Amino acid sequence: MKRTFAIFAVAATLAVAGLLASVYAQNVTANKEHGIALRPTATAVSEATVREYSIPSAKGPSCIKHLGLTVSQTRMGQVGGTGALAANPQVNPQPPGGDPAGPANLNSLIQRFLSTFRSSPEKAGAILNENFSASGADLYRWNCQSCHGPDGQGAPPEINSVLGPVQGTSPVLSRRRMEARGLDVDDDVIQQTTELAEASLRDRFQHGGKNMPSFEYLRADEVEALFGYLEKLASVPPTKRDGLRVPESAARVGEHIVRGTCHVCHDATGPGSGHSAMTQGTIPSLASIPRDHSLSGVVHQVQYGSCATMKMTGGDTMPAYPYFTEEEIAAVYLVPYSARP
Ligand code: HEC
Ligand code: HEC
Repeated sequence: MKRTFAIFAVAATLAVAGLLASVYAQNVTANKEHGIALRPTATAVSEATVREYSIPSAKGPSCIKHLGLTVSQTRMGQVGGTGALAANPQVNPQPPGGDPAGPANLNSLIQRFLSTFRSSPEKAGAILNENFSASGADLYRWNCQSCHGPDGQGAPPEINSVLGPVQGTSPVLSRRRMEARGLDVDDDVIQQTTELAEASLRDRFQHGGKNMPSFEYLRADEVEALFGYLEKLASVPPTKRDGLRVPESAARVGEHIVRGTCHVCHDATGPGSGHSAMTQGTIPSLASIPRDHSLSGVVHQVQYGSCATMKMTGGDTMPAYPYFTEEEIAAVYLVPYSARP
């Protein structure tokens, strides 16, 4: 029920989005020569003050272009699966001990943003930086699922499973395994090997892997919450990281999804989906998307993937991402909108 309502509510605001699109297009034209429109910056959105939003995207070429690959030559960004996000009332519960009047979830923040934008853009901009509480599962969905799948198993041999390396970090599991094999349990060995496994995972987030991009933009508390969820995926006995929640804003959600998912295939800046560009097989840049597409168009493209006509051309197509909610996609889309000077 709630979901149907959300779809309706986002659809009902499309008129607003259409209005924004034309205003925005004018600004882009005006600013083009100065190169200031939609220029991504290195500033973390979460640190930016109100009215100083940057595009929540990584810089430069897409992850796969950086590796010299095309969409059809890799599984990266295409392993997320066809399952929609489970309708789970626990997904965004009120943070324990949190402000009862505070925002419960992203949906309510986006709805408030949309209903405030027309009358008071400045107030609306601030709403995008208000915090709600997100889970390690959310962080995994936004940043990891498109390559490692809903179950963490990836697409071997190209994309290794996360499960083994995460199991390697668990002292409890290591001890059980040694016992099961009839080995003498050596606490020092267990400590050393599990610490090493944990350090190597942390290093992977910080610096990326051979082909895996870096996730240096994850905050320390986000990494802990993500670990908590990875342990769940890997069936590791729960640790103190189990069920950790973190404060996130709509702006930050947009940043996670763009950097963790869209940037796998889309360059940060460059041409949009003009007809000639597309027939040459160019994937439109992230910066061009809010300029060239409506909110509903982007929600549809992300939830359903490339349209039938695009599939018939035989060029690269985009898979569906039904595991992102409309509000999450709206966050991706609206942040650059509200960043207008
Ligand atoms: C763009 C695709 C992509 C994304 C997104 C991605 N990874 Fe990976 N990951 C890879 C690839 C490719 C490998 C295989 C090793 C390599 O090339 O680095 C890998 C390997 C791994 C491994 C296994 C390493 C080993 O020793 O076998 C872990 C653990 C991992 N990723 C965790 C994560 C987590 C957690 C996230 C989300 C924060 C994530 N990855 C996001 C592509 C990705
Ligand atoms: C696996 C690669 C891949 C990923 C990841 C990806 N896209 Fe795409 N996207 C494409 C390709 C290829 C096209 C061009 C074909 C088309 O237009 O359907 C495209 C086109 C688009 C278009 C233009 C559609 C049109 O009608 O012109 C939009 C909007 C878009 N993507 C949004 C996104 C967003 C937002 C994300 C992140 C949630 C994302 N994409 C992630 C591959 C990807």
